[in-house]
Amino acid sequence: MDNMLKPIGFFDSGIGGISVLKETIKILPHEDYIYFGDSKNAPYGTKTTNEVKKLTFEAVNFLLSKDIKAIVIACNTATSAAIDDLRKFYKNIPIIGIEPALKPAVELKKRGKIIIMATPMTLSEKKFNNLMNSYKNDNDIEPLPCAGLVELIEQGLLEGEELNFYLKNKLQPYLNSNISSVVLGCTHYPFIKKELSKILNKDIEIIDGSLGTAKQLKRQLLKENILNPKLSLGKVEILNSLNDDNIIELSYKLLNYQ
Ligand code: DGL
Repeated sequence: MDNMLKPIGFFDSGIGGISVLKETIKILPHEDYIYFGDSKNAPYGTKTTNEVKKLTFEAVNFLLSKDIKAIVIACNTATSAAIDDLRKFYKNIPIIGIEPALKPAVELKKRGKIIIMATPMTLSEKKFNNLMNSYKNDNDIEPLPCAGLVELIEQGLLEGEELNFYLKNKLQPYLNSNISSVVLGCTHYPFIKKELSKILNKDIEIIDGSLGTAKQLKRQLLKENILNPKLSLGKVEILNSLNDDNIIELSYKLLNYQ
């Protein structure tokens, strides 16, 4: 098949990367997409780096078997564990990753703490620490590991008491201080933005990296000259390592979730 017409592969440890796919479809509506969620092995964020690396390579191999033209690692955890090795190994395909959107938070130039919510692994990896160190001197940055949150979202829990309790508990120590913004450094978290904004003051910005990643993908496709030239809307196919219709149903629901 002509490279331009091939689909773009998306990967996440589960259903979180759908938040990135959603933003991508807005700016690249004529592309076809194959999304693979590894919900069987989620969460990744509390595993070891080597485990996540191995699972990510397996998932990427699976997507490559579908004859894709580019791949988006729509998972902060898998990006921090594996993106450098993936790029070394697969030199002939654009690989786009995602990292916590600290830069846009800094650029707001608001006073107060920048809280970075992400998985324990993302926050402990070198990639994030290098990023944080480059902004640390002039900004008050607070990494907030959120073990257990991905599990709630994987169950389809996007609102309600249990989630509210979890978030209040996590953010309690900061609620009386001056917070400038909260960065959602895990692609699952944009789906709980509504519940989160019930806890935070209205003037606190909630930032995620989906749009930045989508734009980066577009730039890469343009550079490689492989944008899909068709004028009709593209197709989305969602696959999951869990052999369960419910997770596929939830995935399509999230793709249309407002
Ligand atoms: N969506 C993944 C991320 O962005 C969640 C990782 C996990 O499964 O813990 O980090």
